[in-house]
Amino acid sequence: MSRKVIIAGNWKMNKNAAEGVALVEALKAKSAAFNDVEIVVCPPFTTIGAVVEAAAGSNIGVGAQNIHWAANGAFTGEISADMLVTSGVKYVIIGHSERRQYFGETDETVNKRLAAALAAGLIPIVCIGELLEEREAGKTEEVLSTQIRGGLANVSAEDAARIVIAYEPVWAIGTGKTATPEMAQAAHAFIRAELAAMFGAETAEAMRIQYGGSMKPANARELVAQKDIDGGLIGGAALDAESFLSLISEAMGC
Ligand code: PGA
Repeated sequence: MSRKVIIAGNWKMNKNAAEGVALVEALKAKSAAFNDVEIVVCPPFTTIGAVVEAAAGSNIGVGAQNIHWAANGAFTGEISADMLVTSGVKYVIIGHSERRQYFGETDETVNKRLAAALAAGLIPIVCIGELLEEREAGKTEEVLSTQIRGGLANVSAEDAARIVIAYEPVWAIGTGKTATPEMAQAAHAFIRAELAAMFGAETAEAMRIQYGGSMKPANARELVAQKDIDGGLIGGAALDAESFLSLISEAMGC
């Protein structure tokens, strides 16, 4: 398999600049040992500048947690692609379930953010995932299909190859409940088949699909060992250097 594993920490609304720098300094001290994995941290906007500086010269990339689709203008509280790129950001999380749940994110707005991120040369991490009641009603595949087809509408196969999908079952986020490796693999295989239908088999094979939702050192190895799981999007376990590094090491089977 030629897909490079990508492990990204989603810090959510945690870590001020000083705390973020301390975390990256601690990660940097050991991250060079992991050269077969793409390591990413996604701090809050106000922490990004300090973290980019701290991560300079290391193998740690920096991502944002959101992006607006307009280039500039009267959008109070929003951040544009250019603002991210010129701040040293290389990745951006789009459509996280918390944004869908609390901030009115829809597949349509995901699609607009995605277009802006791709046009700016960023690597988008597009989050999808079903709610507990949707899984229990047997609607997981229907939900994933709708989110993929809506969120990734009008994307070329060439651009799609750059997109990272994060499959995050909403019931597993921050709850300590993880999908079993078999459940996660089944969802990932379904997602890859959907991507193949949209972009062709070759592109779908090249696209990376992360698992997210209570991933931790204890379950990372088994999850990432699955055929279609190409890394993780990590919340809680990414807030501490020791646990994030140990998760990376487990995921890489070290
Ligand atoms: P968690 O969060 O690892 O704390 O479950 C994952 C995420 O929301 O990206």
